[in-house]
Amino acid sequence: MAKCEHQHPGGSVKDRAAHALIQAAIESGELQPGGTIVQATGGNTGISLAMIAKAKGYRCHLTIPENISNDKKELLRILGATVTECPCVPFADPRSYCSRAHAIAKATKGAVLPDQFEHVANAKAHYTTTGPELWRQCGQALDGFVCAAGTGGTIAGVSRFLKSAHSACATFLIDPTGSGHKCFVETGQFASSGSCFIDGIGISRRTANFGTAVVDGAFRGDDREAIEMAYYLLRNEGLFVGPSAALNVVGAVKLARKLGPGSRVATVLCDGGERYRATTFNAEWLASKGLTPKCQGDDLSFVKEDPRHTFELSHEMWSRVISDLVRNLPREWRGTTFNNSNLLGREGFACRLHDLLTRRAFSGEPLVSEDLVDLGQAEDYLRVASNVTTTLEAIHARQSGLGVSRVFSFPSALRMPIAAVVLATDRAAAVRVYIGDGPPPFTPEQERMLAHVGCALIISRGGPPATRQRERLAQEDDDKSVVLCVPSALPDRGIYNLRRAPPSAVDGIVGDGMLLILDENRIRPSDILVVRKRLCTPMTTPVAIQRLEQLASGRVRVAADADAPPPQSELDAFNAHLQELSGTSVDADTPPVCYTAGLSALSALWIALIAGGGADVVMSSTAYGGSSQVTDILAARAPSKLRKHTFEVSGCSQIVDTVRGALNGLLQRASHHDGGSTGSTTVLPRSSRDRDPHEILNGSTTVLFVEAPTNPDMKVPDLPTLATMLAQHAAATGARPLLLVDTTLAPMSRVMAKARSAAPDLPVMVLLSMSKSVSRGLTTAGALVANHAPDAAALLSRARDVGEMLETMATDDQIRRLVDNHVGTEERCAKAYRVAMAVGAHLRATVREHCGATMGLSTVSAEAASNGYASTTISFNLPPPKGTSEQQAAALAQRFVDELCLDKARFKPCVSFGQDNGLVYCTVPATSTQGAIKAEDKAKQEVGGVQLVRLSFPPSLDEEAACQTVTRAVRACYPTAA
Ligand SMILES: Cc1ncc(COP(=O)(O)O)c(C=O)c1O
Repeated sequence: MAKCEHQHPGGSVKDRAAHALIQAAIESGELQPGGTIVQATGGNTGISLAMIAKAKGYRCHLTIPENISNDKKELLRILGATVTECPCVPFADPRSYCSRAHAIAKATKGAVLPDQFEHVANAKAHYTTTGPELWRQCGQALDGFVCAAGTGGTIAGVSRFLKSAHSACATFLIDPTGSGHKCFVETGQFASSGSCFIDGIGISRRTANFGTAVVDGAFRGDDREAIEMAYYLLRNEGLFVGPSAALNVVGAVKLARKLGPGSRVATVLCDGGERYRATTFNAEWLASKGLTPKCQGDDLSFVKEDPRHTFELSHEMWSRVISDLVRNLPREWRGTTFNNSNLLGREGFACRLHDLLTRRAFSGEPLVSEDLVDLGQAEDYLRVASNVTTTLEAIHARQSGLGVSRVFSFPSALRMPIAAVVLATDRAAAVRVYIGDGPPPFTPEQERMLAHVGCALIISRGGPPATRQRERLAQEDDDKSVVLCVPSALPDRGIYNLRRAPPSAVDGIVGDGMLLILDENRIRPSDILVVRKRLCTPMTTPVAIQRLEQLASGRVRVAADADAPPPQSELDAFNAHLQELSGTSVDADTPPVCYTAGLSALSALWIALIAGGGADVVMSSTAYGGSSQVTDILAARAPSKLRKHTFEVSGCSQIVDTVRGALNGLLQRASHHDGGSTGSTTVLPRSSRDRDPHEILNGSTTVLFVEAPTNPDMKVPDLPTLATMLAQHAAATGARPLLLVDTTLAPMSRVMAKARSAAPDLPVMVLLSMSKSVSRGLTTAGALVANHAPDAAALLSRARDVGEMLETMATDDQIRRLVDNHVGTEERCAKAYRVAMAVGAHLRATVREHCGATMGLSTVSAEAASNGYASTTISFNLPPPKGTSEQQAAALAQRFVDELCLDKARFKPCVSFGQDNGLVYCTVPATSTQGAIKAEDKAKQEVGGVQLVRLSFPPSLDEEAACQTVTRAVRACYPTAA
């Protein structure tokens, strides 16, 4: 059914919006008798405004682009409007028709400039008129409504009305090629490609009007479908309508196909064909665009299958495009870090990928590596989301009908996906998991461990509750519980027809390494994203590639050799190497524990401590952002068990002094039981319920957590002194001590040997993110290494239990890559250090030459480097060129990095370090990788207290070429120099 909106007096649906906007201006008092309505429009809105203004006795002044047809200009003048023709220049140009409208409105007394995009009187008109009329005229029986969006007024008002009248009515958008609305409906983000010729519909920003729409989904429609439909309607129905009306009918066919035979679907015909005599209904114009209609009779085959259906229906098309994709995965997609100059986010990336796959699936053209490279990047770091895992998630999202923002992959089949929900759910609530006839995911001991940081977890056999039962449970749980179920427990045993038959009493589906969120209010995607980014990783790239291959072929691939677990002897050699790097004797009985990433290792350690006697963690305020955040997250989940206290290392602070201050603060607190904050020690707020004055003295651990060297100042902590101080502190408080050293920036620093010289029995652990130098950037991974002290070994064993509980232990493919690449870490680090120092010295000399100032450079000193602290990273604040404004000075760091990164073969705008690929990684700001920079640090940056640029060097680099690039970049930043 089509509502004939082209039969309004003004000839289009815009009569409604124009009338409503004028009425709103009158009612608000803005438009007074004799006033003028000003508007930039060459389209239907102008015609409606001119006509209604005339009828109501107002003046109307329209600005139009000069290229619109003479017919239209004449019509506007006949209707009584003043018409100002403007050149076709960009919107921002003061001569453009938009800018001119604003200028005219400003200069005209009593003028109003109604905004049809942002003023919701537009959508309201459709809510109060179009929607109710349609519902009545359809006999109050309608299964679906579909239309396109320009301002979004029609779809918003009509969809909202229909949903309120009949919530089962499906509401859909048909979006022309090049418009971003479809992507927005599916993923919450605007992204598009291509363009279309149809006037008045499709844009790529969220308008206030569109924002009020309630739509279930979106179809894509293109120029050809619209043209064919315009002729179809003329031929078969005697309807002479414009291309946007035709596109709406295309949408109606798609929706009718989706809803099935017998369904009643409606749309609107926006305007008549008369206005398109020179385009849609002009043979020459059509031929010039390659759009000459080809179909005959009542053949509707030109309306393309909706891709969502195609992927469900046509297995061949789908398989082909996915196997093309797997075969042509760009090399760049397999490392740990990605160029961050074209970062799209998961949603933006998934949109562009959908469009690409759809186009290739239909056209049959092969999908090549360059197509994929051109997409851009989902994220800049593999632990956050890789392009490969995002691709897998996007495909699951498409097949299940959920947006990609609701689909997450994990390195663990079932436990981490469940744990992620448990960790992201209010502690006062419960997570109920229905596991069908599968085995229970956790042992009772593991459940107890998880309970320390999570909410209640209730595992039940069988399928999810029926709606009625859920309601009963909701009462029991105070309506706070979250219901999860495994795919095999779903009534139809699959996730691919959720859109058709969503299980109403289930909030999320977990299993096969995926979490699919059905109810975003109960499981918040943003919370899951944080947990996944900080406590684990997405599915590893090789496993995700295997999954994609399975999707393409339907077969389970036998794992290639490269992903098989390595033989024990190689594993032993690797473990021994980690112990050597950490400076403890090789001990096969207490092997290091490897996790999917450095942060998973750290979170396992924190949870192990929480599950034991609790811990006070004393750490640097500028510690790597991820480490800080993991600590904050877990401290918030278990405030009585994990407390964070900070000390300063940046600026001129001496680490030993500020650590002493922090430990003293802790000591005072222990003796006074006052729970307050002292000196530089920050005590996280605790509620009185959580406070146990005896805890600190009773089985709890004091963890001194230092980075060697520090972030981002590259200071080297005096470990023997720190070890002594910690041992003394432990003796005074009775707390168990743990010295935890993050050696990620200098993996070969043998810190345990250094600590042992001063405090022979002190328990020491090393946290080593191997995502960089050790793995050479081929995988993420993180190790915990314990020294000989029994407490350290016991804690490591508990941290291993946590890793097993969460399934965040390094996977076979990760171990394989570590075992294949760890050898030579020391040489690579030493070499990269030399490269860093050489290029750093060149940089300093060049800066001095070009601006006269001597620039400080944070590096590890030669002496510290020979002592094992060689770091591949340098950081610095460029001195502002003389006479620059504050603003220019603040932008200098980014400017410099941009200049460096013009040399794409050597410099990469991305956070990482120590990879063996010939690339210098350039980060701004430098405080923290992954950009987790705190407000207080930002403030320090502004006064130069925190280094702004961080460059991390690879072991092999064409140094001469790199120095030339540095010279060029310095020259560009200090242009006035000789
Ligand atoms: C100093 C430091 N520690 C730990 C980590 C965390 O490692 P991962 O990224 O493997 O989780 C990083 C990451 O960049 C780091 O820079």
